[in-house]
Amino acid sequence: MSRYNDEDGETVLDDRLSDYDGDEERPEITSGEAAAICEAEKNRRKIQTILFILTFFTSLVVSTVKWYSRPSMMYSDYSGSWDIFGNGYLDKQNKLRLNRTLNYLVKANISGHNEWMPPDNEMTGTLIDLYDDSYSPQYKAGVWISTIDQRRLNIPDPDAEATLNDYLFLQRYVLAVLFFATGGIDHWVYSLRFLTGSHECYWYDVFAIEGMPLGMGLAFGVRCDREPNIENKGRDWQKERIVTQITILPANNMEGTLPMELKHLHYLKELHIDINPGLTGSIPSEYGYFPHLQKLALSYNSIDGKIPDSFSWLTKLEQLNLEMNLLTCDTNNGDLDFVRGLKKLVVLSLEYNPNMTGTLPDFLSNLPDLRLIAFSNNDMSGKIPNSWSAMDNLQYLFLDDNRLSGSVDVLQNMTNLTNVYIQGNKFTGSIDDTFFFNLKNLSQLDISNNTFRGKVPGHFFKFSELEVLDMSFNQLTGELPGDSMAVNKSKLEHLALNSNNITGPIPNSIKLPNLTHLDLSSNQLTGEIPPAIGDMTNLTYLFLARNSFTVEHLPGWLQNLTKLTELSLKGLNYTGEIPEWIGKLTDLTFLDMGENSFYGPLPSSMGLLTKLWILILNKNDLHGTIPHTMANLEDLEVLLIDDNNFHGNTSAMCNRFDKINYFVADCASDSSASTSDDAEIQCECCTLCCNDENVTCNDEEWMGNHESMWENGYTRWKWEFESGTVSPIEGDR
Ligand SMILES: *[C@@H]1O[C@H](CO)[C@@H](O)[C@H](O)[C@H]1NC(C)=O
Ligand SMILES: *[C@@H]1O[C@H](CO)[C@@H](O)[C@H](O)[C@H]1NC(C)=O
Ligand SMILES: *[C@@H]1O[C@H](CO)[C@@H](O)[C@H](O)[C@H]1NC(C)=O
Ligand SMILES: *[C@@H]1O[C@H](CO)[C@@H](O)[C@H](O)[C@H]1NC(C)=O
Ligand SMILES: *[C@@H]1O[C@H](CO)[C@@H](O)[C@H](O)[C@H]1NC(C)=O
Ligand SMILES: *[C@@H]1O[C@H](CO)[C@@H](O)[C@H](O)[C@H]1NC(C)=O
Ligand SMILES: *[C@@H]1O[C@H](CO)[C@@H](O)[C@H](O)[C@H]1NC(C)=O
Ligand SMILES: *[C@@H]1O[C@H](CO)[C@@H](O)[C@H](O)[C@H]1NC(C)=O
Ligand SMILES: *[C@@H]1O[C@H](CO)[C@@H](O)[C@H](O)[C@H]1NC(C)=O
Ligand SMILES: *[C@@H]1O[C@H](CO)[C@@H](O)[C@H](O)[C@H]1NC(C)=O
Ligand SMILES: *[C@@H]1O[C@H](CO)[C@@H](O)[C@H](O)[C@H]1NC(C)=O
Ligand SMILES: *[C@@H]1O[C@H](CO)[C@@H](O)[C@H](O)[C@H]1NC(C)=O
Repeated sequence: MSRYNDEDGETVLDDRLSDYDGDEERPEITSGEAAAICEAEKNRRKIQTILFILTFFTSLVVSTVKWYSRPSMMYSDYSGSWDIFGNGYLDKQNKLRLNRTLNYLVKANISGHNEWMPPDNEMTGTLIDLYDDSYSPQYKAGVWISTIDQRRLNIPDPDAEATLNDYLFLQRYVLAVLFFATGGIDHWVYSLRFLTGSHECYWYDVFAIEGMPLGMGLAFGVRCDREPNIENKGRDWQKERIVTQITILPANNMEGTLPMELKHLHYLKELHIDINPGLTGSIPSEYGYFPHLQKLALSYNSIDGKIPDSFSWLTKLEQLNLEMNLLTCDTNNGDLDFVRGLKKLVVLSLEYNPNMTGTLPDFLSNLPDLRLIAFSNNDMSGKIPNSWSAMDNLQYLFLDDNRLSGSVDVLQNMTNLTNVYIQGNKFTGSIDDTFFFNLKNLSQLDISNNTFRGKVPGHFFKFSELEVLDMSFNQLTGELPGDSMAVNKSKLEHLALNSNNITGPIPNSIKLPNLTHLDLSSNQLTGEIPPAIGDMTNLTYLFLARNSFTVEHLPGWLQNLTKLTELSLKGLNYTGEIPEWIGKLTDLTFLDMGENSFYGPLPSSMGLLTKLWILILNKNDLHGTIPHTMANLEDLEVLLIDDNNFHGNTSAMCNRFDKINYFVADCASDSSASTSDDAEIQCECCTLCCNDENVTCNDEEWMGNHESMWENGYTRWKWEFESGTVSPIEGDR
């Protein structure tokens, strides 16, 4: 998983869950309930743990990658259906029930102002059309609960004193409003048994998860608790009939707005409605009225407006996830002041709200339990407040991609930090042997794309938990820290120091056994490239491009790196022929050997690299015909072979390449063609034809943009090119 490793996730979970689960009893499962639920109930604690992991991960992690794809779940094949609407005839009795229901809802002011009532409230005796958008969700829910719902609950008397049964009627009504208000019938992918005839505490579904044992799964939908704090008003009161959690399956295609009626679920502890881009409108200010709410996750929707000030009343809140929405929030205008009193807050995530502006609020340091702060990809400016240095418990700090500036010294003593992302800002400062020296628990550190100066410090390689270190795109100078980079036991998987001004050699002793990603490109490194790199056989990504190494022929140790998927040796002055063994690197999807002095023919083993999407060989001295085997590279999307001396034609390739969208060769004047010196190739599928005289042809910089690529299990999610116009690969390939 990306920013969180499983271990951390679970630790967080266990602490938090122990509050809920220990002493609960489930009600008897009635004969009508599916056996699968029975099975699932036995594993309730486990399920809830995983549920929490999943929601924790989807609500936080999903939002940190820009290219979302559905969580990898294997859905079980039973999901509730509601083939129950056939009973909607308004006979005399149903008419009466509906009338009484509407009277109750109006008189008790359940749904606020009464605009939700149809203008002509006369009952016609025909089938009520719950698919008709001209009716409000509140009215539909009223029709449903009074005339269609198989439970045929007693309709409360608005003039009598409220009872438990009144509360349960309201609870069911409110959930039906949520269903209708968010496109339940037409849009929800999974109904989660909403509106089935069972008690609403059974409106959930269990989903099998890949890799989990059979019979285990995650429950999504409505969950209930016994509520010990409710005054005991009836003998059934202690049963688990009070809704305390609503967790809609992420990405359920909900469409509409959040209904304020949810406020009547007085005992709600958790509300999770994530990843529904069709969910618009603002957060009802009534959502500040949940006295027991501990977790609120409304992330990755299209919610706009301000966060209601009434949230300051959510004093039990531990987790607030509002990331990836369209919220407007100016911290300098007090829009975040509601957080001041939320003393129990552990997670505060507001990232990816482009209209979130202002400075980082210093009062966050008064929240003693905060472990995660996420303001990434907002529009925040100013400095990290000095007061934050007191946040002893903070572990996760996401501030990347804002306009923050100043020094990061504040973080120096926050020893519990494990994940720090401050890339893409304007932070400054000099990096020396004391930089973050105390942050020995660091597991992922990304300070790339700022203006830090100084040297790569040796101590980071001794941090036993460090997995990701990204210091690329800064102004680092000096040499690499020599023998400090020779570590027998290291968790480091991702090391990016590219695009600095680092000089000197790569240490000969370099040894980082778990390294999968090494990017040293675009520096001023000199000397020979040490063969020790060939011993780091876990490498999948190796970028050494654009340095001043002393090189000659392609080194033989490269053939030991058989796990490589991405390799760039651009602009290194290599010479000699491209060896036949290149065909051993069969996992390559990206290979850039452009701007060298390779000569001779292309080896036919190139045709073995059938996973290639991008092959860059331009600006060399290669010659000869293009081997027939190249036609096997059917996945190629980008192929650059211009500025060489190839001749012949590419028709075998053109016949088979159907994904190619950028193909450049020397084929400019193919009419006078085949004999002329500067039009070596006939190419009917090239997207750009160059000739040797035109030195500006295809001279755009084709370096891959590596930004954020480690964020999803260290795999690349998207290619972008710095000045090319092509983004050939997007999403989850
Ligand atoms: C509904 O109830 C109101 C009074 O509560 C009454 O005036 C009205 O006639 C009733 N309508 C029908 C269709 O029964
Ligand atoms: C009914 O509820 C709405 C919204 O909660 C509130 O604004 C209004 O004042 C209430 N009306 C009455 C009569 O209580
Ligand atoms: C964000 O702010 C800009 C400028 O104030 C405004 O034009 C835009 O509509 C806002 N976007 C949203 C989603 O509120
Ligand atoms: C750091 O975390 C540990 C456990 O996660 C906790 O016991 C400790 O109080 C935290 N704070 C500091 C300052 O170490
Ligand atoms: C960090 O702690 C050390 C010793 O505890 C102290 O000398 C130093 O000033 C602190 N640094 C910051 C930036 O707070
Ligand atoms: C650096 O950060 C700026 C601003 O956040 C962003 O526009 C730019 O694309 C980033 N550059 C790289 C190479 O990541
Ligand atoms: C690297 O050094 C060169 C000159 O040697 C300078 O032009 C360039 O701006 C420097 N780059 C960075 C990122 O400091
Ligand atoms: C290397 O990574 C694996 C899993 O990716 C881990 O189990 C192992 O402990 C790591 N090695 C070291 C020395 O940390
Ligand atoms: C590759 O990683 C594994 C763990 O993921 C580790 O056990 C092994 O030693 C590493 N390979 C090398 C050559 O260091
Ligand atoms: C490749 O690895 C093998 C053993 O792992 C080793 O014997 C051989 O020398 C290596 N080849 C090169 C070219 O480094
Ligand atoms: C490339 O190599 C040639 C000689 O083989 C040398 O003259 C030239 O300076 C080298 N270029 C670079 C950038 O190192
Ligand atoms: C060189 O090639 C580029 C890219 O195709 C083209 O825009 C430009 O006009 C060409 N220049 C000449 C002198 O042919």
